[in-house]
Amino acid sequence: MKLAVLPGDGIGPEIVAQAVKVLNVLKSEGVAIEMETAPIGGAGYDAAGDPLPEATLKLAREADAVLLGAVGGPQYDALDRPLRPERGLLRIRKELNLFANLRPALLYPELAGASSLKPEVVSGLDIMIVRELTGDVYFGQPRGIEIRNGERVGFNTMLYSESEVRRVAHVAFGIAMKRSKKLCSVEKANVLECSELWKTVMIEVSKDYPEVELSHMYVDNAAMQMIKWPKQFDTMVTGNIFGDILSDAASMLSGSIGMLPSASLDEHNKGMYEPIHGSAPDIAGKNLANPLATILSVAMMYRYTFADIATADRIENAVKKVIAQGYRTGDIWTEGTHKVSCSEMGDAVVKAM
Ligand code: IPM
Ligand code: MG
Repeated sequence: MKLAVLPGDGIGPEIVAQAVKVLNVLKSEGVAIEMETAPIGGAGYDAAGDPLPEATLKLAREADAVLLGAVGGPQYDALDRPLRPERGLLRIRKELNLFANLRPALLYPELAGASSLKPEVVSGLDIMIVRELTGDVYFGQPRGIEIRNGERVGFNTMLYSESEVRRVAHVAFGIAMKRSKKLCSVEKANVLECSELWKTVMIEVSKDYPEVELSHMYVDNAAMQMIKWPKQFDTMVTGNIFGDILSDAASMLSGSIGMLPSASLDEHNKGMYEPIHGSAPDIAGKNLANPLATILSVAMMYRYTFADIATADRIENAVKKVIAQGYRTGDIWTEGTHKVSCSEMGDAVVKAM
């Protein structure tokens, strides 16, 4: 298996190093994994003047899967938009056609106290958000800032074609079939035509999955319901920007954004795996970050791209074990638990494996 490793910026290299430790355990047991590292984001700009250097894209194309840390940092904020780190991430998603972004929000029982919501509201939480990742207002044309009637206007285009909605709908219904057969489609069809089409196509695709109970919710209500009683949700499917926002909100239900992995898949289950959190420049280089979201992303890689469920379970069980043992990075630390650094957490997971 060929793996492209793209640590990126900020805490990216630290957390990816812990995930690589996990991969090295598997390698030492005889699993054939070839890893090659390349720069992306600000690191790509520093190395090659491009947040997605040609060589990095080539490596990612040729790999079976991509492991990514995080991109971005204040030192790049003044760059022209096409040169910014975030653009590297958006481009690699688009270039590899990774349209289905799976973001599971799962609460480990021991972390109920780390969530800002009451334990009874979040205990037992297990939500899967399927976020469309290569369309919507993120990519729609036209976009820009220009002068109209003597003043500056900024504009973006929210756009979905029916084929884009249909393919992510099939992924979401397929996932719902393997879970509790409940799917909630989130949009803003009371205001937006783009959402109206989204909803229509979801209903059309639902005919292929008669066993799945499809519901619809406006995004503002979904945000409220997610905080009010998140356990009403099982599988959710939504567009790129609504999914971006809702998945950050969902992460807080599970105690910390440092716990949430993600998979971004194309139609052949080739994937890019990354934590949903950002590059956290404020704690970068201090060995403080939580590497569990990245390690859990490796588990997702085994589950979805390599279809090796046993290894995926093994990694996830190792994470469960270190949490049960009381190891906590700062973001999930509570009184009476054992505070560890990023690398100590990685070592603990390796030991638990
Ligand atoms: C995410 C991030 C990205 C996004 C940024 C860094 C471009 O917030 O993966 O959720 O908006 O998709
Ligand atoms: Mg986001």
